[in-house]
Amino acid sequence: MNPWLATLQWYVDQGVDEAIADTPWDRFATPAAAAPANVAKAPVVPQSTQSPAGQTPTGQAPAAQPSTAPPSLGPRPPPRALMPAAQPAPIPADLAAAEDLAALRTLLDQYEGCALKATATNTVFGAGPANANLMIIGEAPGEEEDRQGEPFVGASGQLLDRMLAAIGLERAGVYITNTIYWRPPGNRTPTPAEIQACLPFLRRQIALIQPQILLLVGGAAAKTMLQRTEGIMRLRGRWFEYETGEDAPSIPALATFHPAYLLRSPAQKREAWRDLQALQNRLIDSNS
Ligand code: URA
Repeated sequence: MNPWLATLQWYVDQGVDEAIADTPWDRFATPAAAAPANVAKAPVVPQSTQSPAGQTPTGQAPAAQPSTAPPSLGPRPPPRALMPAAQPAPIPADLAAAEDLAALRTLLDQYEGCALKATATNTVFGAGPANANLMIIGEAPGEEEDRQGEPFVGASGQLLDRMLAAIGLERAGVYITNTIYWRPPGNRTPTPAEIQACLPFLRRQIALIQPQILLLVGGAAAKTMLQRTEGIMRLRGRWFEYETGEDAPSIPALATFHPAYLLRSPAQKREAWRDLQALQNRLIDSNS
């Protein structure tokens, strides 16, 4: 891989994936006194307080000193294989103890294992009847969902409503949620770590609702819930079994295109329509 791309990827893997100022600041070129007012300066540790080994009294490495040295790219990141693995999110409280959706929501509100919570306006837990036959799982809340705290209320939600109506379903009759509960900044794709941090809650949510059928819209939902590596182009239109991992039986799951993708690629609506008809037939069969 191009070394610049590799470096950027390394930053993203470390969680450095968000801009904190409106304009870029070249820390190598800027003398300390000219640092932008909105960027906190690292405290200067007097030389005399440092141990001979260059450590502060707390045993931590000293804070970086402002430098007027000529620009430098700094040390290259270590090869990926030598990098420390990302810290797994703290294991949530015993989710099996949540006996209904309200109790699960309370546990989610107490959960701090997904950093997206800090930047989101609202938690988008899910919406719909707790005994719905059909549960739809999307990717991640967008801007409007974040504002309202409800899944699929923006442009792609309106298309999802029309897709449901086309097979005689009302949004109010299905349960809708996402693979993650908080909007990623700038609507970026959620990272695998963010998805894994939310997954125990989503699995418990499915176990509580016990839908007859899961509709997985988009690659993120399909790959996560089916534990598959193929893209949505290969997964869509096919029936899989979602393994509950509990004594409960597996749940039939259909993957299809995400409405946001259909808005960008209307030619794919024909395939999506086939998927919807397959879903309708399966729902009729399972209720007859
Ligand atoms: N896209 C999603 O995947 N989920 C939402 O809730 C909204 C847009």
